[in-house]
Amino acid sequence: MIDLRSDTVTQPTPEMRRAIADAAVGDEQKREDPTVIELERRVAELLGHEDAVFVPTATMANQIALKLLSRPGDVLIAERHSHVVVYEYGGPAVHAGLMVLGLPGNGGRITAEQLRSAVPQRTKAADQAPTVVSLENTHNNAGGRVWPIDLLAHTVATARELGLSVHLDGARLLNAAVALGCKPSAMSAGADTVTLCLSKGLGCPLGALLAGSSPLVERARREKHLFGGAMRQAGVVAAAGVYALDHHVERLADDHARARRLAEELHASGIPVELDQVETNFVQLDVAPLGLERADALARLREAGVGLSATIHPTVIRAVTHLGISDEDVERAVELIPRALLAPVKA
Ligand SMILES: Cc1ncc(COP(=O)(O)O)c(C=O)c1O
Repeated sequence: MIDLRSDTVTQPTPEMRRAIADAAVGDEQKREDPTVIELERRVAELLGHEDAVFVPTATMANQIALKLLSRPGDVLIAERHSHVVVYEYGGPAVHAGLMVLGLPGNGGRITAEQLRSAVPQRTKAADQAPTVVSLENTHNNAGGRVWPIDLLAHTVATARELGLSVHLDGARLLNAAVALGCKPSAMSAGADTVTLCLSKGLGCPLGALLAGSSPLVERARREKHLFGGAMRQAGVVAAAGVYALDHHVERLADDHARARRLAEELHASGIPVELDQVETNFVQLDVAPLGLERADALARLREAGVGLSATIHPTVIRAVTHLGISDEDVERAVELIPRALLAPVKA
């Protein structure tokens, strides 16, 4: 199957497996794993922060961050379709006691004006107070959309002015950096905490990092332990991360080019794709104009040998390019997808 369901389906390459096999390791919980320490140092530098902590998943990184930046009963502001709101099982409420104020986004982005209206002037000490905002770049449910750097800076500056802490869910921040041709730190240095995921476009089997100031990351290590995320010889996994930082960042541009080609050729074949929304490695297709239900469309594609997946939008499905998708796969997919979706509906 040409597996375009997600960039999380990648297999470690033979070279990455060699790096894993050769990793120097130690007891990570005791801060004795040299490979974990190296990965944390490199990611902190990449993201423009003092320190970073290695955790098993980006979900854990997000949840730890929100807990660090708030108190129970506070309000979290986030775009309403963001990962922390939709896919983390109510984690902000469960772990941090946060109430969520979900704002409608444009391409997953929320504006300074939206923040201003969401944070009213307090009239009494007991007023409910938003204290933290979480921004997502690239935005998964918006279809891998990228924040223009000035808009991100303006929203972050406004959050600061309003007294909000800022978490950046940059699970795919390197996709955004490659798409814009900028340093990742240009987007992440202004946030209090930043999540970076290793198991998506970077092609690692698992792992994520949370970056921030040294005192915040110190507290994050304690939270990580409380979440059950303090590990032992975790260098076997961190080695994949170090390898990916050396070898799998620039190649994200190939994923983006393949997504663009997929989008353009599908569009030319009559498949409803909004070309101007394809900014990174996601291509979203709306099957409603084809007279198809989402489940039917996905079943047809599966049968044809192409895996796509559902999105939060009831009639939109997505194709995601990644390390395991070649030019030949794209060439084949642009034949198979229209054939499967444009075939007449059986009576
Ligand atoms: C934007 C974003 N943040 C966080 C996550 C969570 O990642 P993980 O599966 O590593 O917990 C995802 C996963 O798809 C994501 O898309």
